[in-house]
Amino acid sequence: MTAYQNSIDQASPNSKTMLRAINALEPYDSSNINSDRFKTALDHKIVRNINGPALFLSRKTIRENLRALKSALPGVSIHYAVKANDHPDLLKTVAEEGHRFDICSAVEIDKAAQAGANPIDLIHTHPIKSNQEIQDAINKGVRTFLIDNPDEIAKFDNYRDKVKLLVRFRAVSSAESAAAVQCNLSFKFGCAPQEIEELVNNINIRGIDFAGLAFHVGSQCLAPDLYLKGINIAANVISKLQTQGIDCEILDIGGGFPVEYVERVPDIETFCRPIRKALSSLIPPRVKMISEPGRYISASAVTLLVNVIGKSVRDGRPWYYLDDGLYGSFSGRLYDHCSYQALTNRNTTWVKSTLAGPTCDSIDVIYDDILLPPLQIGDTLVFPVMGAYCQVSASRFNSLRQAETIVVD
Ligand SMILES: Cc1ncc(COP(=O)(O)O)c(C=O)c1O
Repeated sequence: MTAYQNSIDQASPNSKTMLRAINALEPYDSSNINSDRFKTALDHKIVRNINGPALFLSRKTIRENLRALKSALPGVSIHYAVKANDHPDLLKTVAEEGHRFDICSAVEIDKAAQAGANPIDLIHTHPIKSNQEIQDAINKGVRTFLIDNPDEIAKFDNYRDKVKLLVRFRAVSSAESAAAVQCNLSFKFGCAPQEIEELVNNINIRGIDFAGLAFHVGSQCLAPDLYLKGINIAANVISKLQTQGIDCEILDIGGGFPVEYVERVPDIETFCRPIRKALSSLIPPRVKMISEPGRYISASAVTLLVNVIGKSVRDGRPWYYLDDGLYGSFSGRLYDHCSYQALTNRNTTWVKSTLAGPTCDSIDVIYDDILLPPLQIGDTLVFPVMGAYCQVSASRFNSLRQAETIVVD
């Protein structure tokens, strides 16, 4: 046993005490949350003497999530969406498990390549890219790109011998998507289904390779039906194109697979069952099927530990100030429209309180109406599902210390 492991074991009794008393802040059954992950995070915080906010990354959970999704959608290859969380150890784990990447910028290409990816296996999924980004991506060896309009296709005229293009369409209307997903991705991107064939013809006329079709139902999707709509549209277009002698090599069903934050979501096997059935019954076996999961792979693999650094009572309501906030790891409260479960070791009366971040800005409030037990300066709060769209969108506002990431296994 290493000295480090020894010190971890010595830390455990403290953490166990804390964990036994942990309670959900809102009425919620947390029995299915894997408390081993909190224990590990708390152990590392103690042993490494971490005083500031810290994100604890579990590579084991990344592997488990990849395997669970692979088993739920066996014929569908995984291109992890780097945008969700680009930590080098996470990306390396994805590559080691034999999966590929979805990237949307030259810097993401470099990050995926550093993790071991071959650029030719990357998919550039950004529907609207600058000429410079396209040139950089091609110079770095990327060959597969997405488009959703004629002007974007024209940008590839000078690279017609080097690239192949997927047409991204809207599986559902923006309004339908908004009702069933946390982040509506049909608002900004994706052509209408009736525009697909014209775009395919445009690609062919320009002498560029047409690779296939892509859709993204929106992120944190709670309704598998949305995928079924996308698959149905794709199946119809694939068979029509077939009659014109045009082959569709790839169907990309995007990301969107949900994780449990505050509300219950179906497990991945249950969620994917109808998608799996639709793919096998509607999509010809010669079509290569791929997915671009981000959130499902990374969210549950990161636990955030933050500290109460100040408190006050404002108009009779307790306020607690944390060392991380909206400008930091909680940026997803704004950009990702996400609510995160919080856990504490205190367990007395619960009163409506405000939980604020550390910056000077008044917008930096994480929750302004949350039931909390009385907290003390120095208390640690645990946020268990903080691995997607959290620290990637954090800023350096106020030049405060950002949460560091600790790899725990
Ligand atoms: C093009 C594209 N692919 C994949 C993803 C990842 O989606 P998710 O994290 O919902 O799986 C996103 C998220 O914004 C995206 O825009």
